Order: sequence, then structure tokens, then C-alpha cells
Amino acid sequence: MTAVEVWWGRTADARPGLVGELAPAERDRLAAYARDEDKSRFLVGATIVRRVLAGKLELAPADIQLDRSCPDCGRQHGKVSTEGMQLSVSHSGDLIVVAFHPTAAVGVDVELINPAIDADSLAAVSLSDLEATELAGFEPAARARAFTQYWTRKEAVVKATGDGIRADLRKVIVSAPDQPPALREWSGYDGPVRLVDLQAGVEYAAALAILSDQSPEVRSFDAAPMLRS
Ligand SMILES: CC(C)(COP(=O)(O)OP(=O)(O)OC[C@H]1O[C@@H](n2cnc3c(N)ncnc32)[C@H](O)[C@@H]1OP(=O)(O)O)[C@@H](O)C(=O)NCCC(=O)NCCS
Ligand SMILES: [Zn+2]
Repeated sequence: MTAVEVWWGRTADARPGLVGELAPAERDRLAAYARDEDKSRFLVGATIVRRVLAGKLELAPADIQLDRSCPDCGRQHGKVSTEGMQLSVSHSGDLIVVAFHPTAAVGVDVELINPAIDADSLAAVSLSDLEATELAGFEPAARARAFTQYWTRKEAVVKATGDGIRADLRKVIVSAPDQPPALREWSGYDGPVRLVDLQAGVEYAAALAILSDQSPEVRSFDAAPMLRS
């Protein structure tokens, strides 16, 4: 199966010169963010999408047609899609990640691990009883990372299907963080899915899901050189 391309950017890669490649709806979104870090995350994510697709399709980044229609309200803040490529965007802290596959739907999620989170309370709203019991078996100092690994595995799956947070994450049951990543059970989806953990440094957890019955090869790329030119 064709490899999944995973491109990593950083908020520090954002610069005003990139804005000219965005579509009007994207510029409106950029302007609506109050915080500079949110602007940078969105700008870098949208630019990685445009420039990687431009390279593959031999088009100018500004000429790439993207659709982000939200199935709930129709506004341009939903899962990004384009003809001929499946993709998924995620950002957290200083990191931005975009996954691309030519045919199979993909979902990617990166999260900055907050060591101060109350993992046990969050478990009550986002983990199944089985997962919460497993989480309680981790040392307290390891629980924030373990919880965030569950979270990113679940989010990757619901982002691949396009459900997003409309899915009840307690029912999206994934393998424990110390086990190979897999979807154990989810009544909301009965097709094939494969999960992969992505390495994003000690401060982050990240996972990739692909709606396929084959484990994908993952090729990682640093977007910084592409964003500098
Ligand atoms: C998708 C979602 C799970 C992302 O949560 P998050 O962890 O805060 O954010 P991430 O950085 O990981 O992901 C954001 C990206 O998810 C993508 N996305 C948005 N909706 C999505 C969906 N339903 N499925 C998959 N991806 C989605 C977008 O590309 C977005 O990046 P961009 O806006 O820069 O292009 C969550 O925002 C969601 O479910 N949204 C849809 C439901 C919703 O918000 N409805 C209310 C508006 S009417
Ligand atoms: Zn909406």
C-alpha cells in the first residue's frame, strides 16, 4: 500500500509572507483568531496542505481547491478535503501535523501533554470503564502521558471517519498505551482501521489512523525547509 506522508511544522515556521497563498475563507479564519499562537497553527497547517498538494499536483499553492464545509453548520471549519487526496490536520502547542494518503481516509492527532491534568477526572468523560481501569494501573507520574495517548488514538480514529467530537469517545475503545495501537471496539464504525503512534518528542503524544485493513508505512517530513522558501 502507498505510504502515508506525515508532515511536521512548528508555530515558529509561520510568517506573514505565507498569507498570500490562502483562500479568502482561510484569511477570514486567520483574522478571526484572537491569539497569535492560534493564527500561527492555522496558517502553518493550511500552508503545509497547500504546498504539499501543489508539489504533487504541479499547481500553484493558491490554486489548490480545498473544502472545509462543516457537516453541522456549513461553515468552512470542518475536515479539510480536496479531490484526489485524503488528508487530516492537527495542531497543539508548538506543533502542526498534516497526514496525506492518495486513497484511504486518514486522521491525525497531536496533543501537548499537560502534566497538571487531572487524568482520572478526564477519564470519566472520555474513557470506557475498561480503559479507565487500565489507566489507574499506571504510576501517577505516568498518567498524564498515558491518558493523552489514549486520547490521541481515539481522536485519530474519529478524525479519520470525519465524526470528530460528535462521537462519544467513551465508546471508541482503543488499546492501552503500553500495547500496540489498535481500535478494540467502536459501535459507530464497522469498517477496517489501523492505528499508528507517531513520535513527536517527550512533551507530546500523537497518533495516526487510516481506514484500511493494511498497516501503512509512514514517511515523516520536516516542513520547515518547504515553509522557508
Ligand atoms: C476535529 C476535532 C476533533 C478537532 O479537535 P482538536 O483536537 O481541538 O483540534 P486538532 O488541532 O487536533 O484538529 C483540528 C483540525 O481538525 C480538522 N477537522 C475539523 N473537523 C473535523 C472532523 N469532523 N473530522 C476530522 N477532522 C476535522 C480541521 O482540519 C482542523 O484543522 P484546521 O481548522 O486548522 O484546518 C474537533 O474540533 C471537532 O470534532 N470538530 C467538529 C465538530 C464541531 O466543532 N462542531 C461545532 C461547529 S458547528
Ligand atoms: Zn460548524
